[in-house]
Parts: sequence; C-alpha cells; structure tokens
Amino acid sequence: MIHSISAAKSSVARFANASMLRASGANFVRRPYSIISVHRDTTEDNQNLPFEFDKTNLARAKEVIAKYPAQYKKGAVMPLLDLGQRQLGFTSISVMNYVAKLLDMPPMRVYEVATFYTMYNRAPMGKYNIQVCTTTPCQLCGSDDIMEAVKSTLGIKPGQTTDDKIFTFQEVECLGACVNAPMLAVNDDYHEDLTADNTKKLLEDLKAGKEVKPGPYSGRESCEPYSGRKVLLGKEPTDIGKFIQPGL
Ligand code: FES
Repeated sequence: MIHSISAAKSSVARFANASMLRASGANFVRRPYSIISVHRDTTEDNQNLPFEFDKTNLARAKEVIAKYPAQYKKGAVMPLLDLGQRQLGFTSISVMNYVAKLLDMPPMRVYEVATFYTMYNRAPMGKYNIQVCTTTPCQLCGSDDIMEAVKSTLGIKPGQTTDDKIFTFQEVECLGACVNAPMLAVNDDYHEDLTADNTKKLLEDLKAGKEVKPGPYSGRESCEPYSGRKVLLGKEPTDIGKFIQPGL
C-alpha cells in the first residue's frame, strides 16, 4: 500500500511538473526508448520497411494459427507478435502490420495488444535485455543496490541502450520470482538471489562474451528454503494420476 501511494504521489508530481513545463512553452525531449510508446516514424521503425516471417517462423505461425477455429484465428496475435519480435529484435510497426494482415485483423487491434503488454518492445533493443525487478519483495531484499550496480557497470539509465548495442536496461514490475528476490532477467533467463557484487560480475561476464548460468546465486536449489527442503523428504511426489478418473 505504501508503495502504491508513493507511486501515485510521484505520478501526480510528474504530471504537475509536465503541465508546468508545457504551460511555460518548454520543449519536451522525447525519451530515447519507451516500452509503452506512441509511434513516431524513425529510420529503424516505419511502415516502408518490409517485414515478413522467415521460412521457419512462417511454419511456426501456421502451426499456432491452426490451434484456433478459423473464425477466431486472431487469438494467435500474441504468439505471432512474439515470433516477429524474436526475428527482428523488436516489435516494429511493420511486424504489427504483417501480423494484422496474417490474422485478418484491423491493424489498430494489433497495436492495442502490442502497446498494452510490456514484453513487446517497441524500440530496437540491445543484444541483452536487462530487466531489473523493483517491486516490493525485490525492493525489500535490495533491488536498489542491484539497480545501482547495473547503472554503474553499464553507464546507462533505465530505458537506455549502450552505444555498442550490447545492453538495454529496464526497470520492471514483478517478474514472478519473488521468492528468489532480488532478481533480474537477461533476455528470457532469470538470475536470482543477487547481490551488487554478483550482479556486476554477471554483467562483466556478459560483456566478455562468457557463458552465464541462470538461477539462484545463493547456492540453494530452485526456490527451496535457504535452510533446506522441508517437505517430500525421501519420498517420491504423489502420483495424482491415481486419484483422477480414467476418463480424464
Ligand atoms: S517482486 Fe521481484 S520478482 Fe516479484
């Protein structure tokens, strides 16, 4: 609750500051990167840039579309946008238009999806997308230190990409690994139970092209208690199949 109220206060303050600046006629500098962005044509993202799935992704897209009744094929919009993003590196306007065409959807409906969900990146990304969670459980466990470690190691702020296009840095809401807080994601992989020191080492290893191992850095297995496993000791997990009627 405290977190929400302070977030609300800071939004109100930001809004008030923005209104005052606007009233004073000050020019707004467009943020170089924004997850939820209004589209503006750029050299890297405009409707004249062609996009279509490569052979492999087209085959995957057809498989996905086949899972839906013909009249509901628009249900495939999210996996298809994801495929497009993985192929191009971000969800450009051309990716969205292509998916709209493939699914017989009005392009606006696709734009709505792509700008609502934060996993769709509307700007070109670095090779490694570093997402640091700063929601309450991670913050209580030290995510401020992790943010500082990323800032000082990469020399960029949240929302920015390094000049060599290797790292993009984002501050994000809960990534669903709260038990292993604080954590960050590198592309699709989670690195958990972090400290400032091992965060710096992780980034230095990535810079050096070394392979990094995802998972908890504390030595514990998965999200078991720090003091060790407390249940299912020496027993096999229950086969729940035994309790389900054969018809299911
Ligand atoms: S609060 Fe950070 S993963 Fe949930």
